[in-house]
Amino acid sequence: MVTIAEFENDLIAKAKANKQRIVLPEGNCERVLRAADETLKQDMADIIILGNHDAIQAKATELGLDLSRAKIVDHLNAPEFEDYANTLAELRKAKGLTLEEARDMMKDGAYYGTMMVYKGVADGMVSGAEHTTANTIRPALQFVKTKPGATLVSGAFLMCYNNQLQVFADCAVTPNPTSEQLSEIAVTTAETARLFGLDPKLAFLSYSTGTSSKGPSVDLVNEAVRLTREKNVDFAFEGPIQFDAAVDPEVAKTKLPNSSVAGHANVFVFPELNTGNCCYKAIQRALGDNCLAVGPILQGLNKPVNDLSRGATVKDIINTIAFTAVFAQKKG
Ligand code: ACO
Repeated sequence: MVTIAEFENDLIAKAKANKQRIVLPEGNCERVLRAADETLKQDMADIIILGNHDAIQAKATELGLDLSRAKIVDHLNAPEFEDYANTLAELRKAKGLTLEEARDMMKDGAYYGTMMVYKGVADGMVSGAEHTTANTIRPALQFVKTKPGATLVSGAFLMCYNNQLQVFADCAVTPNPTSEQLSEIAVTTAETARLFGLDPKLAFLSYSTGTSSKGPSVDLVNEAVRLTREKNVDFAFEGPIQFDAAVDPEVAKTKLPNSSVAGHANVFVFPELNTGNCCYKAIQRALGDNCLAVGPILQGLNKPVNDLSRGATVKDIINTIAFTAVFAQKKG
């Protein structure tokens, strides 16, 4: 049992326990500056903001914010700019990237902030309040790359509602995963669930429970379950399974009486991105203040880079800074 307030307090406490340096490239966004101010007030993370120093300080004064403890980096004029562009050109030379093109890309805060994380000058990046998911995560996909043993980046949401915490994935990145990719998403999502205190009971969701229905998309899920079984993973999983059978013990008794996961699932792997993205948003919007959706948490990356929804509130940004810091602690 966990309430939204308890979950949020715990998240902030986890971040505070070992402060990390988080870079926020969108220094011209008011919500980002407000979140930076609150993060610093709570002493939850050290903040680096990209942008013009005078413009950011002027905006902070106008908004009544104290950003005196933030490190402001005017990346366009930073002494490191040329080194970062050189590194990008070197890392992407097999893709035909020239130094001139790399310099142009480095003017984009998402590239510069991601390079700070790559270089270890920052521990994590949070961006996307004013940019699309693709714009925000492409630099990380291109040169931060996946962590050892992983081949895929996916996006999970921590969903806190009805006094419980659940994890949903993939809700953000891979439009049509293969069975192999679904199985990998399951393994990484179980790890994410553990990081936030859950003992994963994972449901591979489908419109079929057991053998109740047939079809190519059910076959895809069945194969993902088979592949996961072959991996001898250290968490409980079930699939294919419908959402009702996954969460409701009474339905589970009828549909899958011998399953330890059915009726008690807390981690949900959706068969493809449309379903995952629609379901998390539907629950979030239907429950309003009775649901907290935190994410997307980009899982599988070598270093933490996280994307904000363009509709992100100041509170969403603070929560994203917090879980980015929690991931960064793990890497350190
Ligand atoms: N995991 C790991 N690496 C990946 C992944 C992945 N899931 N996807 C792409 N890559 C790598 C590629 O291998 C490639 O590497 P390379 O250049 O070194 O060869 C690099 O990333 C770029 O790949 P592209 O396919 O060219 O990248 P593109 O930028 O076109 O697409 C993206 C990647 C952005 C993730 C795309 O799949 C996408 O747009 N997904 C949907 C995102 C989205 O809109 N989500 C919904 C909104 S989020 C929300 O509502 C919370």
